[in-house]
Amino acid sequence: MIEETFVMIKPDGVKRGLIGEIISRFERKLMAIAELRMVQLSREQAEELYELHKGRDYFEKLINYTISGPVVVMKIVGEEAIMNCRIIIGATDPAKRLPGSIRGDFSPYLTENVVHASSSVEDAQRELKLFFG
Ligand code: CDP
Ligand code: MG
Repeated sequence: MIEETFVMIKPDGVKRGLIGEIISRFERKLMAIAELRMVQLSREQAEELYELHKGRDYFEKLINYTISGPVVVMKIVGEEAIMNCRIIIGATDPAKRLPGSIRGDFSPYLTENVVHASSSVEDAQRELKLFFG
């Protein structure tokens, strides 16, 4: 089934010059970049994006990282896009990231992990609405 999802290249991905490398990985899996924009998130926007994590011990660190530089926000559309984008980005846990995934190839860190992708239909709709109305 064709789905749409929200993907974000985080500040470390942008700073390291990985925008093209990252986008091409979604495109070659036959997913389309339907919308794309570079933005500097405010603290309020970052807290809204990560509202489900409020109260976690890593929340402040996550927010400070997310607003540490510009990010690239995207709407990606394709076959089972939510699942496929999650596979392409790789696991949250550094110990479970496989080489070939974006995080597996580019980040050994838990917090600074280069990319975000929505993890459910509900999250995708909510996150897309925050950035693309
Ligand atoms: O991004 P993903 O959906 O894989 O993970 P999450 O559990 O939804 O957490 C969101 C983000 O918070 C992660 O991508 C990490 O940047 C950060 N995080 C962290 O710094 N420490 C943790 N223990 C868990 C997540
Ligand atoms: Mg998540």
